[in-house]
Amino acid sequence: MTVGVPKEILSNETRVAAVPDNVSKMVKGGMEVLVEAGAGAASFFADEDYAKAGARIVADAGELFSSSDVILKVQKPMMNGHIKKHEVDMMKEGAILVTFLQPMANLDIVLKLAAGKVTAFSMDAVPRISRAQMMDALSSMSTVAGYKAVLLAANALKRFMPMLSTAAGTVYPAKAIVIGAGVAGLQAIATAKRLGAVVTGFDTRPAAGEQIKSLGGEFVPMNVDHSQAEDSGGYAKEMSAEFYKAEQDIIRKHSKDADIIISTALVPGKPAPTLITEEMVKEMKPGSVIVDLVAEQGGNCAITEAGKDVVKHGVTIIGTLNLPAMIPVHASQLYSRNILNFLYLLAPDKKEIKLDMNDEIVKGSMITHNGEITHAGVKEAVKKANISYPEGPNSRSHW
Ligand code: NAI
Repeated sequence: MTVGVPKEILSNETRVAAVPDNVSKMVKGGMEVLVEAGAGAASFFADEDYAKAGARIVADAGELFSSSDVILKVQKPMMNGHIKKHEVDMMKEGAILVTFLQPMANLDIVLKLAAGKVTAFSMDAVPRISRAQMMDALSSMSTVAGYKAVLLAANALKRFMPMLSTAAGTVYPAKAIVIGAGVAGLQAIATAKRLGAVVTGFDTRPAAGEQIKSLGGEFVPMNVDHSQAEDSGGYAKEMSAEFYKAEQDIIRKHSKDADIIISTALVPGKPAPTLITEEMVKEMKPGSVIVDLVAEQGGNCAITEAGKDVVKHGVTIIGTLNLPAMIPVHASQLYSRNILNFLYLLAPDKKEIKLDMNDEIVKGSMITHNGEITHAGVKEAVKKANISYPEGPNSRSHW
């Protein structure tokens, strides 16, 4: 089995899907690994290290794609401007793609993958069950993002984070608020505490309270019980408009004198709830900072601009996207380990792919196979979007 690791082509994507350590494990297990020249350069993994790990360095992306049975990527497949070919069009029929596909937001690419008879797995669709924890790339990337969010906030803040007792007087610690205490939020709480801030955490799930407190944060409960707040998978449920209004009022009491707000609140598959209104921003201290981690999903702050850092009403609002790419060494290392574990699920003997179609993780993360969209939710979304989708295998050239 030949595994290909191309260089990411999205601008500012610095991560790579496999680092030399893990390539070495694949090679030792009996896989042939092709790595595109420079694939690890932006995350400081040199071609020589991949070569030492047993990979063959391939200069031509076209050759890499067309020779590989499995392609490991970070970003969705896209047009390669250098060679003027779409990555999907370069893949072999029946090849496997493992990447962050975000299929619901990329239905056109899903259709292209189905038409190309590529078996595509999306790392963001891996079910969050215990057995899949070691493949949970969303959690890995959220850990990186939660950490970096606090560093961005600290950098934009014009004051100290920790308390300092000096001969020139006492500096009081910064006040940080973290909204949404999932993986990203908990890492943000831990990082803000390490930098010496006083941290308050908000989450609709009462279960998050213990975790916030265990990191030294204060938890502000929302007066909802477990069954109202959380679904059977442990994810937050969408709440009513009245609830969000009441939550804004609770947050407002704390945001008025906060120095930093890190917001990460999201219900999967829904736009981010507005929890910080423009009025609330106006009431914040000048010089304070909001980092809106869910900017891409519409933002928890009403006036966040996705992909931009702006100053509004004296408050810096950071809507930077793809924070994991700002820490590419460890983001790549963690992602690569998740990918390797996932690959072992697809190839239990570590040599050849043997898909177990009854496996919950395989079923949950498979988006296309054999010319069809296999993921029920994605199939439904394609139908709703009224895009004509032929049932059953069809020709590559159809789309
Ligand atoms: P998660 O699902 O583990 O956490 C979201 C948290 O928000 C949950 O604890 C949930 O209970 C909470 N929540 C939902 N509604 C809420 C409300 N109304 N008030 C307070 N809390 C509420 O997700 P994870 O992995 O922590 O990621 C959080 C977000 O950060 C995701 O949207 C993810 O896409 C985004 N993210 C952004 C990155 C970037 O570079 N900008 C990188 C990684 C993640």
